[in-house]
Amino acid sequence: MKNTFVITIDGPSSSGKSTIAKLVAAHYKYTYIDSGSIYRAITFLANENKLLNSKEINVNFLINLLENNSISFFNNSKNQNIITLNDVDIEDEIRTSIISNHVSRVAQIDRIRNYVFEIQKKISKDKSIVMDGRDIGSVVFPDADVKFYIDASLKVRAKRRWNDLIVNEKNISLNDVTNDLFNRDKIDVNRKISPLVVPHDSIKINTDNFTIDQVVHKMIKLIDKKIKK
Ligand code: DC
Repeated sequence: MKNTFVITIDGPSSSGKSTIAKLVAAHYKYTYIDSGSIYRAITFLANENKLLNSKEINVNFLINLLENNSISFFNNSKNQNIITLNDVDIEDEIRTSIISNHVSRVAQIDRIRNYVFEIQKKISKDKSIVMDGRDIGSVVFPDADVKFYIDASLKVRAKRRWNDLIVNEKNISLNDVTNDLFNRDKIDVNRKISPLVVPHDSIKINTDNFTIDQVVHKMIKLIDKKIKK
């Protein structure tokens, strides 16, 4: 008998899905997995090795780097999954705008997606999870128990992201952030492999006019119904 429960949350950048996913996971005491952080960690590794400077990323070199370095998660004292590279916490390093600006390029490489797919499956094995990303309900867990698609307008998402970035990057403009999000959306939606789609059996929520708490409350009500079935 299956005694684990899988909740997937997909959506575009800065739609609020990670914040929401963490709260939903905490409510049910499930493991939260941020799949974007794996693509970000790979992009960080590529950047450290100067692979992002060229127009075409040297995929063989990057795969070789992945074979010789270890990307994994550890569970900290607050029960959060922290992403590490060779056992060093890189949570802050993967959230800078340089990584954000290049991560979609890395995430469209099919061999990288296969690599991430394996990590995603391995870390979720025999666990009840909440995983967020772009292709979680469509490709990684097509048979998930509950699937959500969290959306928000480009304007609202850009403002949210700018508010986050301005704390550490004083010169960043709202216009730059809007353009960056627009470009990332374009790559995420149009890439050939596992593009960002609304999974056909997902529950779609637009967060423009709702607080995080309102959205989480609504999701919990829907999930509870599924759990009771
Ligand atoms: O959610 P995020 O912004 O941290 O994701 C970073 C990038 O990773 C995003 O631009 C697209 C990519 N990504 C993906 O292609 N598939 C996923 N499941 C998660 C993220």
